[in-house]
Amino acid sequence: MTKVNMKRKPEPCTLVIFGATGDLTKRKLIPALYEMYTQHMLPEKINILGVTRGDMSDNDFRRRMKEANEEFSKRKSNSDNWKDFEEHLHCCPINYDERNSFENLKMTIEAAEKKYDLPGNRLFYLSVPPSAYLPIVKQLGAVNLNTPPEEHTWVRIIIEKPIGYDLESAKDLNNKVGEYFAEDQIFRIDHFLGKETVQNLLAFRFANGIFEPIWNRHYIDHVQITAGETVGVEGRGGYYERSGALRDMIQNHLLQVFAHTAMEAPVRFDADAFRDEKVKVFESVKPISNEEVDTVAVRAQYIRGKIDGKEVPGYKEEEGVDKNSLTETYAALKLNINNWRWAGVPFYLRTGKRLPKRVSEVILVFKRIPHQIFQSDTGLRDGEIDANILAIRLQPDEGISLRFGAKVPGQGMKIKPVTMKFDYETTFNTKLAAAYERLLLDAMLGDAALFARHDGVEASWRILMPVLEAWKNEDVKELPAYEAGSWGPKEADELLKREGCWWRECL
Ligand code: BG6
Repeated sequence: MTKVNMKRKPEPCTLVIFGATGDLTKRKLIPALYEMYTQHMLPEKINILGVTRGDMSDNDFRRRMKEANEEFSKRKSNSDNWKDFEEHLHCCPINYDERNSFENLKMTIEAAEKKYDLPGNRLFYLSVPPSAYLPIVKQLGAVNLNTPPEEHTWVRIIIEKPIGYDLESAKDLNNKVGEYFAEDQIFRIDHFLGKETVQNLLAFRFANGIFEPIWNRHYIDHVQITAGETVGVEGRGGYYERSGALRDMIQNHLLQVFAHTAMEAPVRFDADAFRDEKVKVFESVKPISNEEVDTVAVRAQYIRGKIDGKEVPGYKEEEGVDKNSLTETYAALKLNINNWRWAGVPFYLRTGKRLPKRVSEVILVFKRIPHQIFQSDTGLRDGEIDANILAIRLQPDEGISLRFGAKVPGQGMKIKPVTMKFDYETTFNTKLAAAYERLLLDAMLGDAALFARHDGVEASWRILMPVLEAWKNEDVKELPAYEAGSWGPKEADELLKREGCWWRECL
């Protein structure tokens, strides 16, 4: 049996961040790196080189990163620890179109490797808009920064989502990046996979004996996967207009959670065995025919409404959004899997901006009891006893709960649903690590298990293409609307109602 490496300390390296003054770096990467530094997870020797479009001194760069950390990190930067950490931060200007600029980057990396006695391990992080991916990759190739400088050193590249805009562009990007970097050098990040709870789905299924035997069509009626957000587009109107909920959340995050829920047990927890199983799930999804799209997919856009009692604007009123926009801010989808485990069990996925609650969860609704001898007080028709429900809360209030019927104390046999709960924070008495901490560390360690592989990305696009095509070709002037602060359009309720189900909220 392959043992998991518990000694998780990476080798000394250079981390080069393209887009070092961008939003992602400020909100996620710097707070994650600082936390990792504080927790002694980073290598003793590390050069964090921020690549910026304009000239900037190391001091200015450090000041900006400190401010960003102050704003976005749970660990404040006004300590001696930050002073030690920022010694590792440097910056280097770049022009993506100029070879010289990349020659200069190479010299800067090499000079620092010499100065700080670093072995030549290099991790490039593309925290830039997708249009910049290929120009950067090509230039890295042109100056030979894509290959390890010496034996026993490594070079890796992390690419952020979106990987493509559709199947063709995803394939094209994978092929072109593949001309310069081998698959085992490429780390396609999906930050949902770095969340403890998404990994815990695997632990729950494959480290326990009692759930797998009932994790199938014989016991499960249907599965619901929700990622609800209260935020709108947060100033990212320009990006979101070209994306929409299906591309932004379902193609990557929700389909990854779906794969964790539906996959078979891998033979071992290594990158290939694990990702092979996920690709198998994607490939087993029953293709959606053009005629079916209307009955399995729902899209909608939020209009003005109230969240937590506060008035919020409609999507079309957001900055950077077209006044006639047909971009969906809500999407729901029904998928079926053609295999022995899941045939006939619908998986419903939904995501939306400006919903009443920020919540991501997986809910397994079990089959009802075949014959009822007691009365229930759930309010369901004719005193019917509701199904058992297993709810896996990915965020917030991370945990797992199981709902079952219990006898109400007193005379007679009245049944009431009750819940058994596991709560991460109170059980482990710790705050969960941010997804980027785990993923940055894994990339430094060369462990790609929690990163998307090229065939997985393409297979997930393949599932969605019929829906994207149909939506593109549909001649509509407006999308169905839902009020900000509501749970989405009535069409999404009908999607489940047709099969006698309804959207469940976490227990
Ligand atoms: C990102 C999307 O990938 O995930 C955002 O682009 C979304 O639109 C975000 O808000 C949600 O991530 P989290 O971790 O905050 O649930």
